[in-house]
Amino acid sequence: MAAPRVVNARATRSKGESATRTRILKDGTIESVAELINNGSAKNIIVMSGAGISTAAGIKDFRSPGTGLYDDLERFNLPYPEAVFDISFFKDNPDPFYRLAKELLPGRYRPTFTHYLLPLLAKKDLLLRSYTQNIDMLERLTGLDEDLLVEAHGSFATSECIQCNELCDNSYVRKHILKGEIPHCMECKGLVKPTITFFGEQLPDRFGTLAQVDFKKCDLLIVLGTSLQVEPFNRLITRVPASCPRLLINREKAGEDMHLGFDFDDKWKYPVLRDAVFLGNCDEGVRQLAKLCGWEGELQAMFEAGNIEMALAEELEALTLAKEAEEEQKEIEERAKAEQESDKGEKEKPHVKEHTENVLKDTHENHQVPKNLEESKSNTKKPSSSDDVDAISDLLQATEISSSKKDSAPAKDTTKAGKDDKPS
Ligand code: OAD
Repeated sequence: MAAPRVVNARATRSKGESATRTRILKDGTIESVAELINNGSAKNIIVMSGAGISTAAGIKDFRSPGTGLYDDLERFNLPYPEAVFDISFFKDNPDPFYRLAKELLPGRYRPTFTHYLLPLLAKKDLLLRSYTQNIDMLERLTGLDEDLLVEAHGSFATSECIQCNELCDNSYVRKHILKGEIPHCMECKGLVKPTITFFGEQLPDRFGTLAQVDFKKCDLLIVLGTSLQVEPFNRLITRVPASCPRLLINREKAGEDMHLGFDFDDKWKYPVLRDAVFLGNCDEGVRQLAKLCGWEGELQAMFEAGNIEMALAEELEALTLAKEAEEEQKEIEERAKAEQESDKGEKEKPHVKEHTENVLKDTHENHQVPKNLEESKSNTKKPSSSDDVDAISDLLQATEISSSKKDSAPAKDTTKAGKDDKPS
């Protein structure tokens, strides 16, 4: 499947255009779409979505002027905004992506009211598939069966090395992202990247394989919160049968400037009139659709139950993280303590040496051990330093024991005992 690409295609008139025109939808409103659902004409619904369904969760979209992510990337010094998701750029400079990834990383956001339309349609056995461009994984958090989901631009769910394609432990990657570090492959030290489809990369196989089959079967297409500017995803709207009704819920019209694209204003005079638009926020549009279908209460209940579940999951995660942090802190403290003790040991050695020297000096003055030492030295042609070492280590041992007992008196006694025990 081709790599994603931003387009600005001009529309052309449909080949099959004819004078006889069929009206699939009563008019181009959300009400006429709800009517189709209510009369059972829509049983294989495909939902296509984009960043606009997640803005209510607090995630920026890409292209909304002023508020979109691409207007907010000056701090990264990029040659052009999309470079942050461009594979060639990433290979040279992964830093901007990783700085952004820290902000985008799933785990801090909850699905919106709109997201719960997906499991609701699935529950009613009306959802053929949900195709999303989003990498935030919020669809998964609604409990939607993953078989019903195509993440066309990948997600943060897995990560792999861009050099050897080895899959990497995701918690390792996550920890790096949170620390503001760039993860590298354990195998080949190559750059690791979450399996998000960058510009210049192929879309997941699953996208091409399923789209080929699904779109032919579609009997209602609902497009939510996308500017439909990125290929090949945007082209999907043209792949439903010519008689398939299409609804766009978005703050602005989109997808009109392409061959077989939307025709909300009957500009292209298609033989079949089948496009509807709701201009406004996704949550409002979805609520209205649900209301018209008699599902509003059910959808609201799913949203609320989901929120409670999310709150519990967040709490559990916070507790787990706190426990992990506590254990890490404990480990650090234990390590520091051990280091301190070994440092103390090192520092103590000079004391011990000093103490030993004192003992030696002391015994020298008393003509005890040194005498023996002198004797043992004079008894051997080549005085062995190991003898000295032995003697000193005996003394050291004595002093060490005494120092560990914090009692200097036995040191002398022990020395004396040592002297007495030493064979002459
Ligand atoms: P865009 O930012 O291009 O478009 C988002 C659309 O949603 C815009 O038309 C907004 O007006 C609209 N919108 C925003 N908030 C909304 C809301 N609450 N309710 C209704 N409409 C809302 O985002 P996408 O179309 O998703 O690709 O962008 C497509 C791809 O471009 C992304 O997947 C990403 C990006 O580059 C890659 O990174 C490969």
